[in-house]
Amino acid sequence: MKRLIYISRPIPDKGLDLLKKAGYQLRLGQTHIHDKRELLSGVRGACAILSMLTDRIDAEVMDVAGNQLKAIANYAVGYDNIDLAAARARQVKVTNTPVPELTDAVAQHTVALILAACRGLRDADQFTRQNKYHGWDPLLFIGKDVRTLTFGLIGLGRIGKKVANIMRRGFGTKVIYYDTRRDPHSEHELSMRRVSLSKLLATSDIVSLHVPLLPSTHHLINRKVLRSMKNDALLVNTSRGLVVDEEAVVHALKIGKLSGYATDVFECEPRLACSPSVARRLLRLPNVMFTPHIGSATRAAREAMALAAAQSIIDVLAGKKTRYIVPST
Ligand code: GLV
Ligand code: GLV
Repeated sequence: MKRLIYISRPIPDKGLDLLKKAGYQLRLGQTHIHDKRELLSGVRGACAILSMLTDRIDAEVMDVAGNQLKAIANYAVGYDNIDLAAARARQVKVTNTPVPELTDAVAQHTVALILAACRGLRDADQFTRQNKYHGWDPLLFIGKDVRTLTFGLIGLGRIGKKVANIMRRGFGTKVIYYDTRRDPHSEHELSMRRVSLSKLLATSDIVSLHVPLLPSTHHLINRKVLRSMKNDALLVNTSRGLVVDEEAVVHALKIGKLSGYATDVFECEPRLACSPSVARRLLRLPNVMFTPHIGSATRAAREAMALAAAQSIIDVLAGKKTRYIVPST
């Protein structure tokens, strides 16, 4: 009997073809986000699960899959949706997809949000569509030159580094960063300094988040932190919604502490906020810009992620060392 792999949502064919060629039987989930019941019926009997960040993979899911389950390949760089302790206890290996194409895609999206916010692209587009453009105007839509700003990066991992690189080398922006670890090589390459979190908040005109969601980063950006930010700063979030206390952000925007919030992620996805009132207030604020968790959504990234996840499954099931193993699983 062929060994079964459950792929919870359709992904680019390249990954599926690799698994088929390796002789596995594939069970494909539907296009929509699964509820627990669908997920449990999908994983039954699988020796590997190719999961999405929208799938909560907990002990129950692993137990219902059965003890032939050996691998969970998350189709994302983040893996906060997976109970790692439960995986470890069952000797299930967990992998993610920090492929260079994903790093590029998220970094590019981050910079797109920064530029769009600094130059008022969304409002300028609306303005033009509404036939309000009656001729060149020396004072129309005056934005911010990112070269003149201080860019503060929280989390200097792969994506953070790439964003720092584009901002520094592309625009000449001064970059500072906060991370628990120092990276002297990047500091030298990009003439940037590591500073304390409070210093970063107090001096940055743009603060961009590039940390994973962990107990220590949950609501890292809260009311107190926002109070210590430089007035008129822009906050950009392409990490995880729960790194930010959205209600506190709404408050900071309201009182003019923040000049804008540009985000690709939300506290209670797919809802904009955990409470309807915060969602309504976020929607009403003019200086908030949303994208629907599309940071890694380039064809190059999604195909590379599909190949990486498929290869991880093949490697783990063959008992081989695999490239993108999540530490401690
Ligand atoms: C997307 O959010 C990812 O973690 O890859
Ligand atoms: C603007 O269009 C300029 O020519 O300065």
